[in-house]
Amino acid sequence: MSYERNRVPPEVKSDFLIIGSGLAGLYAALYASKFGKVTVLTKSTVEESNSFWAQGGIAAAIDPEDSAWFHIKDTLRAGRGLCNERAVELLVNEGIERVTDLIDLGMEFDMGDKGLDLGLEGGHTKRRILHAGGSSTGREIVSFLITAVEKNPGITKHESTGVVEFLSRDGRCYGALALDSDFEHRVFSAGSTILATGGASALYERTTNPGGSTGEGISIAYQSGARVTDMEFVQFHPTAFYSEDGGSFLISEAVRGEGAHLISTEGRRFMADYSDLGELAPRDVVSRSIYKEMKESGKDYVYLNLKHMDAEIIKSRFGNIYLACREFGVDITMDMIPVAPAAHYTIGGVSTGLRGETNIKGLFACGEVACSGVHGANRLASNSLLECVVFAKRAVDGALQSTDSATGMPGELLSNLTDCHLSGSSDAEQKTYIECRKNISSIMNRNVGMVRSGAGLQEAARELKECSGYLDKLTGYFKIKLNMILQVSLLIVRFSQFREESRGVHIREDFPVENPGWKSHIVLERGKEPQILKV
Ligand code: SIN
Repeated sequence: MSYERNRVPPEVKSDFLIIGSGLAGLYAALYASKFGKVTVLTKSTVEESNSFWAQGGIAAAIDPEDSAWFHIKDTLRAGRGLCNERAVELLVNEGIERVTDLIDLGMEFDMGDKGLDLGLEGGHTKRRILHAGGSSTGREIVSFLITAVEKNPGITKHESTGVVEFLSRDGRCYGALALDSDFEHRVFSAGSTILATGGASALYERTTNPGGSTGEGISIAYQSGARVTDMEFVQFHPTAFYSEDGGSFLISEAVRGEGAHLISTEGRRFMADYSDLGELAPRDVVSRSIYKEMKESGKDYVYLNLKHMDAEIIKSRFGNIYLACREFGVDITMDMIPVAPAAHYTIGGVSTGLRGETNIKGLFACGEVACSGVHGANRLASNSLLECVVFAKRAVDGALQSTDSATGMPGELLSNLTDCHLSGSSDAEQKTYIECRKNISSIMNRNVGMVRSGAGLQEAARELKECSGYLDKLTGYFKIKLNMILQVSLLIVRFSQFREESRGVHIREDFPVENPGWKSHIVLERGKEPQILKV
């Protein structure tokens, strides 16, 4: 990358550099602050993470009628043979401890008559979803942690500061180079760098994610030589609000957990035709069934019906969904909600071990940006917030236990950076960037969506490569951003071309069945051939 050289970038030093301020980043920051100085970077504001918008809740086997054994079994069954079983055991067992820690810290989850009000979601055989503020769980937990972070003198946060590359040398990461809101470069050096930037579902036109979830963290890590795993597994949430203009937002799975029905456009309740678990089948099964119904009817949506449910309970338990639908003229206590699947969660990501370690020393990853294999080929609902807290703590522990914490950035790495400054991009460039981003999201929706084919993926690869022509029209910040977005999109395409079977959330029209020969993870390192790792 070349920069205009006229200024020495200021350096901020800390023990832990946390990149991202969703649930994983905030939890990691709070825990790490017990052991050293922490810096948190976020490219937007702390309120704009994907976790902030999570509705459903956090799954934990804490009910006396439940046990870790049932939760592990449900997670493995959802994952279609690809879960890392040890990661699942840790998720579930340590998840109970982390949720208890949150409660001890003062986090208030919704209560019922007999204690915590535990919800049910698809793929869970027990009621085990803790929620807060009805269906505003992400907002409640993230706000709770933001308050704790803001009060903590050991943590400094920098908002509107986007990382553009890791500062690494000889397989070791020493921190990151970032751009602040004035497009000035800042050097953040740290003993350990923890990546927690979330997923990439906003690469798709129809998504439940905020616009910033475009997978930059995956791209930066991959460019620095970090391995990435299972990028083909993009989870589509079955029930995102459908509107003709493309606008979509999440209608939580918890709504089905409380008894909502899926109805075809011809008025038939159809899920029993596909699974004994009906509307509460795992997410991949429900999404595929909706897709089939849509294909048969020729319509772009089906309906979610809550009309038989108690109107007052709907309004109090799902207040934000009630209000969001009202804005589109749908009163969910009286009207059926048009819904269709939308890109929701990136199962693949930066390859990590069980303590968040990557193949680059000093670089750790946790939360949606990471792939430890805990979700296999299909994530169980509400296991993602749980993953954030369990693996954020594990990543900090990994950093603490690492024998080769960086003690300082090598002089030559720093001197290569001196005087770098990137000028801001013009309005015209911003327009070009927005246009190209729109093109990319429509390519992803059209040919890399829920159902894929070899021919469609080939076409997507061609079109995405064509989009890279836009890079010549851009400079500065938008060029860097577009490059990252294209890279992550192409990774999803490449991995999807590679996996010639249908498994979990990855559906290939031309390879419609699960192939036992493909019970493997795909791992890729820049400049190398993909590796197939048998489970
Ligand atoms: C939902 O509320 O349906 C989303 C929960 C999740 O993705 O785990």
